[in-house]
Amino acid sequence: MNERNEEIDTSVFGERTRTEAEAIIARYPESRSALLPMLHLVQSEQGYVSGSGIHFCAEQLGISVAEVSAVATFYTMYKRSPCGQHLVSVCTNTMCAAMGGEAVYRALSEHLGVGHEGTAGEPGAEGSITLEHAECLAACDFAPMLQVNYEYYDNQSPEQALELVKALQRGEKPAPTRGPALSDFRGAERQLAGFFDDLDETVTGPSQATETLRGAQLAEERGWTAPSMPDDAELPPVPDRK
Ligand code: FES
Repeated sequence: MNERNEEIDTSVFGERTRTEAEAIIARYPESRSALLPMLHLVQSEQGYVSGSGIHFCAEQLGISVAEVSAVATFYTMYKRSPCGQHLVSVCTNTMCAAMGGEAVYRALSEHLGVGHEGTAGEPGAEGSITLEHAECLAACDFAPMLQVNYEYYDNQSPEQALELVKALQRGEKPAPTRGPALSDFRGAERQLAGFFDDLDETVTGPSQATETLRGAQLAEERGWTAPSMPDDAELPPVPDRK
């Protein structure tokens, strides 16, 4: 048992997971450097980072449970309770909030009957949804926007977001505005661990949008270029920080 009253049992991770863990560790000169993708691998199996998942990572990497816990509890992408089939992240940071992101979040929260990090439905079951507020998701030119399993759905209104979530609850997977076809939370976690089971499916789909390229297009039309970099000799000396 750990402090969350979870039974610790690393044997829940089977042969395939152990082989994939070895493949992840082999990518790095130091095994401890593999911790971030290892935690994603655990989430792809269990839908969250369980106590057993933390112990599994510690065993595989030869580091302490405290070290793994410190990392797993620091980053918001590592979930400490089981996620729904889909994770819906609504950006409510400055630009999205100004453009209506809070109204999108409220509409979804009321419909699902859950708040931040709450799950509607049995976690992992088809159509179950975990909702979360998110900080800036690096798509302010498409505000307000949301992500499902980290794929982008741009320029959302409360009505569009509700339609999207209702479709997810029916078991449908509407295409993201950009990027690959929608998977589910565990599938996305597998990709974040570095395993692409269907690469063709993963890399198809529009990857850029007119709004994002507008500045570069204007610069090209007007012949604007960035100032050239000075030669190394002209760069100021690097301060001695000893
Ligand atoms: S503020 Fe929402 S994507 Fe940047």
